[in-house]
Amino acid sequence: MTKVLVTGAAGQVGSELVKRFPAGFEVVGYTSSELDITNSRLVNQVIVEQAPALIINAAAYTAVDKAESDVERAYAVNETGVKNLAQAAMALNIPIFHISTDYVFDGTATEPYKETDPVGPTGVYGASKLAGELALAESGVKHIILRTSWVFGANGNNFVKTMLRLGKERDTLSVVADQHGCPTSAVSIADMLWLFAKKYTEDNDLPWGMYHFSNSPATTWHGFACAIFKQAVEAGVLKKAPVVNAISTADYPTAAKRPAWSVMNCQKIDRVVLGCIPGWQDEINKLITEFTNNEF
Ligand SMILES: NC(=O)c1ccc[n+]([C@@H]2O[C@H](COP(=O)([O-])OP(=O)(O)OC[C@H]3O[C@@H](n4cnc5c(N)ncnc54)[C@H](OP(=O)(O)O)[C@@H]3O)[C@@H](O)[C@H]2O)c1
Repeated sequence: MTKVLVTGAAGQVGSELVKRFPAGFEVVGYTSSELDITNSRLVNQVIVEQAPALIINAAAYTAVDKAESDVERAYAVNETGVKNLAQAAMALNIPIFHISTDYVFDGTATEPYKETDPVGPTGVYGASKLAGELALAESGVKHIILRTSWVFGANGNNFVKTMLRLGKERDTLSVVADQHGCPTSAVSIADMLWLFAKKYTEDNDLPWGMYHFSNSPATTWHGFACAIFKQAVEAGVLKKAPVVNAISTADYPTAAKRPAWSVMNCQKIDRVVLGCIPGWQDEINKLITEFTNNEF
């Protein structure tokens, strides 16, 4: 059995990681109340006690707008928390799989971002996540960083659930149509990380480093919303779809600036783990089908 310690185990991705691990793995999941990664003493104690073969960090401060006024906490979790894990892992030579974000880029590109493209976050959340990436890289610990985007899943708040809730309440909605990105299911991120974990146990090594991973193809929030409503009506989760008006970013001001373009090039990960890029359409279909029996 390969023992894997998962932090942030109640989050969108963390909860899928602890549900979906493959045979041959034993998973110890810690929620934020059980292991606060900003507490270096506790991080060290838990890692020494558990002595896992691998750590997957799914813990993060993810409130993009709130981070603008909660700078210290965002950095405490997204930078110092990662440093704490890296220090404890380094002492025992344990690799870390870490998740990062498309928001490390400035959003001015017109081609999908490669792993080697220059970064330039425009908000506190993106900057704090970038600081975490750098802390991990500088720690010397063996690591995989998976940058992903527009995450949705059964647990936690996300765009799919917000749209379904608003679709129940309203006949008309306005959704931003000039921000481009790739929705990505928490399930597919968890599955991807487990593929890396399996490869690691089989080969006792990995092509370590940075990888971009999202579902395909690129769309806008407006395109994503329309697809969600189409599927929700087909699955019987909504009686009828609301009218979805396309608006611009300027019409929907937010505390944190959002990148106009956050599409990532996933060719590197697709080369390493063949055929690994699921379509988000199938992923929302599966999730919405789950909601036919359960409340979202
Ligand atoms: N959500 C997105 O659209 C998106 C997009 C790109 C990348 N990502 C990245 O993907 C990863 C997973 O995100 P997600 O969507 O699963 O986020 P999430 O649902 O917000 O989960 C993050 C988890 O981390 C926990 N956490 C927060 N502070 C912590 C601390 N100090 N110590 C331990 N745990 C702590 C949270 O617990 P509490 O709820 O108790 O605070 C939560 O359970 C993150 O690295 C995120 O930056 C997310």
